[in-house]
Amino acid sequence: MKIDPEKAIKIKPGIWWIGWPDYQAGFSNNPYLIKDGDEIVIIDPGSRLDAHWSIVKKKIESIVPLDKITMVIATHQDPDLCACIPFIEDAVGKDNFELVTTDRTSLFMPYYGIKSEVTTVEDGDKMEIGDNGRILQFITSPYLHFPGAMVVYDTLEKILFSSDIFGAFSVDWNFYANKYYHEAIKSFAETYLPEQRHVINFLDKIKNIDIDLICPQHGSIIERKHIPKIIDVMRNLEVGVWK
Ligand SMILES: [Fe+2]
Ligand SMILES: [Fe+2]
Repeated sequence: MKIDPEKAIKIKPGIWWIGWPDYQAGFSNNPYLIKDGDEIVIIDPGSRLDAHWSIVKKKIESIVPLDKITMVIATHQDPDLCACIPFIEDAVGKDNFELVTTDRTSLFMPYYGIKSEVTTVEDGDKMEIGDNGRILQFITSPYLHFPGAMVVYDTLEKILFSSDIFGAFSVDWNFYANKYYHEAIKSFAETYLPEQRHVINFLDKIKNIDIDLICPQHGSIIERKHIPKIIDVMRNLEVGVWK
């Protein structure tokens, strides 16, 4: 399948990658859009830099008008995923805007100039969206890499939106992970993730979840065939290596 990263890329029915590869930095940024009936959800929308936001905005608008977004989900508080949220809030209007994140992360949302109240979720909370019985499940991932971080599982398409977990620095970026991706993960995870016990705690939490695709906020999308190997590598990584 030919991938054109200049365009929004449909990865499942009703789900698009709306990100951009940064070849120079070896750092892709991967916001995602879910469209289910009238519900339009953006997960980790991204940076406010013109060069970045203009891409995400264009890709959203190739699917739906910006003001039709019904929900933004932020998996943690970093600027590479939160900084453009005020642009979406402005387009949607404060009264119709819903931002979902954890309690810990919600404290930082006003720092970006976000004016709306934030909907907070806890570990295991579920939210049904759209017309197809799609449930988004929120799974906290403490200390990976923020105390209040979480991931999101789409029960309908069996996608784990994994935030910075399973992300990678990849100079040789591919849209879908190849058989060498576990090596690319190492350079990111070893420095971003603080302690192995938190990684193992998280991997234990997701071990009974049926995952067809892992969609991280950086790096490549991981298909089912590569997931067991990558989880095995993650379990045995030495993280928190900076001294
Ligand atoms: Fe982060
Ligand atoms: Fe990130």
